[in-house]
Amino acid sequence: MSNKDIDWDGLGFGYIKTDKRYVSYYKDDAWDEGALISDENIVMNECAGVLQYAQTIFEGLKAYRSKNGDIVTFRPDLNAKRMRDSALRLEMPAFPEDRFVEAVLKTVRANADYVPPYGSGATLYIRPFMYGKNPVIGVKPASEYEFRIFTTPVGPYFKGGVKPLTLKVSDFDRAAPHGTGNIKAGLNYAMSLHAIVTAHEEGYDENLYPDAATRTYVEETGGANFIFVTKDKKKIVTPRSDSILPSITKRSLITVAKDYLGLEVEECKIPIDRLSDYSECGLCGTAAVISPVGKIADHGKEIIFGDDPEKPGEICMKLREILTGIQLGEIEAPDGWIYKV
Ligand code: PLP
Ligand code: COI
Repeated sequence: MSNKDIDWDGLGFGYIKTDKRYVSYYKDDAWDEGALISDENIVMNECAGVLQYAQTIFEGLKAYRSKNGDIVTFRPDLNAKRMRDSALRLEMPAFPEDRFVEAVLKTVRANADYVPPYGSGATLYIRPFMYGKNPVIGVKPASEYEFRIFTTPVGPYFKGGVKPLTLKVSDFDRAAPHGTGNIKAGLNYAMSLHAIVTAHEEGYDENLYPDAATRTYVEETGGANFIFVTKDKKKIVTPRSDSILPSITKRSLITVAKDYLGLEVEECKIPIDRLSDYSECGLCGTAAVISPVGKIADHGKEIIFGDDPEKPGEICMKLREILTGIQLGEIEAPDGWIYKV
């Protein structure tokens, strides 16, 4: 597809092939110099480590077309660091963090025609990933890996944009204590597929996963962290847990809440049975940005946020406006957040 055929305003969250992708190969204990290539297909052995034992990790970030026409990315250094943490946990070699950032910028530059126009609400989603490629039949880490980055133009992750979502407290677990919930491993998302299909079949947009040990505290959804707003609208409260992904969006929103809106922020364990103490709930992540939640169903009990579950919360919308304003060059960013392509 040429970028001329793309309806930027009507884009959903899907895959559209763009021109170039970055590839680097790890063999004999070293990464090669890496290159941009055109072929989107991968050929591998039937016994590749990724196919047999799911040895794969990934990242997600976006490139934005700013108000002044520049193309920028948002805090790619944090994705580089998190990918390193993910790699080490799955016994994979880390891709050097400085090379990760360079490769992201290079891949976006090569696909600049696919960065949606300013004002369209769409962005270029960047997906770095790494997987074990050589044959592995005994359970052990692969010895050869491919690191790749592709890009795809995307619109909103949830259909309906900022229309508040309805969630259910899942009967399934996503991540075990001392497991892999705090890294971005493909296996975590495989674990969530049956749960998300079940939730959709029952008419919900997403799942709230409780902590697997006690099933009483809020963890996260399949692809985003939670933030809650207290009834007096003075404080943001967000779950603290070792088994959720450390969201870069959430870390950024904490700064926005404190430094731009003068709000208090608390990270703590949040009991599911205290959710009615909050006036707003939002899902935050690269794909989700901040998506307001109107209602959470907990086994026959409904928690409604705000007076009207159809109306997004005021603080969530303010946070969203400032964060996207920073990403689009409309509002001054803290030092080091914006990388010009
Ligand atoms: N939690 C999960 C499970 C995710 O997949 C994501 C998306 O990356 C997030 C949270 C949000 O993280 P970030 O803000 O870094 O995109
Ligand atoms: C992201 O927000 O980048 C993610 O990886 C989440 C995924 C569910 C699309």
